[in-house]
Amino acid sequence: MRLLINNISTLCNTENADSAIERRSGADMVHLPCIQNAWLLAENGIIHSMGVMNAKPEMHADETIDATGRMVLPAWVDSHTHLVFAAPRDGEFVDRIKGLSYEEIARNGGGILNSAKHLNAMDEQFLFDQSLERLYKVMATGTGAIEIKSGYGLCLEGELKMLRVIRKLKENVTIPVRASFLAAHAYPMEYRQNKAGYIDLIINEMLPAVAGEGLADYIDVFCEEGFFSVADTERILEAGARYGLKPKIHANQLHYSGGVQAGVKHGAISVDHLECVGDEEIAALKGSNTMPVLLPGAAFFLGMHYQPARKIIDAGLPVCLATDYNPGSCPSGNVPLLLSIACTQLKMTPEEAINAVTINGAAALELSDQLGTIRVRKKANLIITKQIPSLAYLPYDYGNNNIERLIC
Ligand code: NIG
Ligand code: FE
Repeated sequence: MRLLINNISTLCNTENADSAIERRSGADMVHLPCIQNAWLLAENGIIHSMGVMNAKPEMHADETIDATGRMVLPAWVDSHTHLVFAAPRDGEFVDRIKGLSYEEIARNGGGILNSAKHLNAMDEQFLFDQSLERLYKVMATGTGAIEIKSGYGLCLEGELKMLRVIRKLKENVTIPVRASFLAAHAYPMEYRQNKAGYIDLIINEMLPAVAGEGLADYIDVFCEEGFFSVADTERILEAGARYGLKPKIHANQLHYSGGVQAGVKHGAISVDHLECVGDEEIAALKGSNTMPVLLPGAAFFLGMHYQPARKIIDAGLPVCLATDYNPGSCPSGNVPLLLSIACTQLKMTPEEAINAVTINGAAALELSDQLGTIRVRKKANLIITKQIPSLAYLPYDYGNNNIERLIC
């Protein structure tokens, strides 16, 4: 199957066939190489060739798209979501408007425990059907690869149910899906006085079962005051490593918790959230290959201060952006809206923000060799925009969907 796209106004984030960038960092994040008035040929889902229209050779294709006035970009890679969940938490949203904090709601048995109650009561097939619908919805706004976490089971059966749903999603869509095992998301009520007992359950029962079925690519921990301490996190990451699961962890959302340093120490692929980042966190990241992943949609929705993206970029580090799509802190998996928040609130330029959700998103899922830029032999996971006047128009036209088609 050969797919030809002609008359592309701007082909964005292109790379030479012989280059192989894994991520863009620091001052390099403003670079978004583009070809104006371009064509692109994909063969069997792989980018075959590209060039400028006025030097296009004769070629045969099974399908030809005329992209006049439209841009083509690498599809978004959303490297952090909790897309599999059973019920919205709109009641807690109202509680927060009236003054309760996210942490107070969690302490009172709401929050993640509320989601766990609904998830454990829900039939696996129904959970899958709902989640697939959500996945199609985010694909319609350009998401072409995604990570999805467990973490609303908080017991062996519930965690396995979530991870099996994620595996089934993977089998039912054409975009790459990665799974992270996040039993260490919250302590179930019955373990509140026996936290070590819950960690033992994760290590001795859940991990062997999850690894036995090959259900997870990564291990995640909510490393945060009031949730899992640095010592808890390290125990769990060490156990995960024995099963070959690399860490991608929740760190420094609510406090300067030491999560970033713990993640770096254990070779985390990414440390995610990062509302609280100071000089020590930056220093730890600078000595590592760990990707800082910012989730400003959660800061927006919880009314918290935003992540210091400029400080991180100005330190020469890469920044990745992801949605954190979940029913509590960010009930949106809409990447174009995330781009708008990143530009207006984090002061990232459109080019930096697009690199953050393409090549750096791919790096946060170890997929840079296949996704994240438009390069010959990479996957043809592409976005075709609607007619738009500029790249900046994507984050500028906030709340509107300018994605016409996802090719994947
Ligand atoms: O990334 N912070 C921890 N976990 C999720 C929220 C989970 C929830 O509230 O359901 C997050 O924000
Ligand atoms: Fe999260």
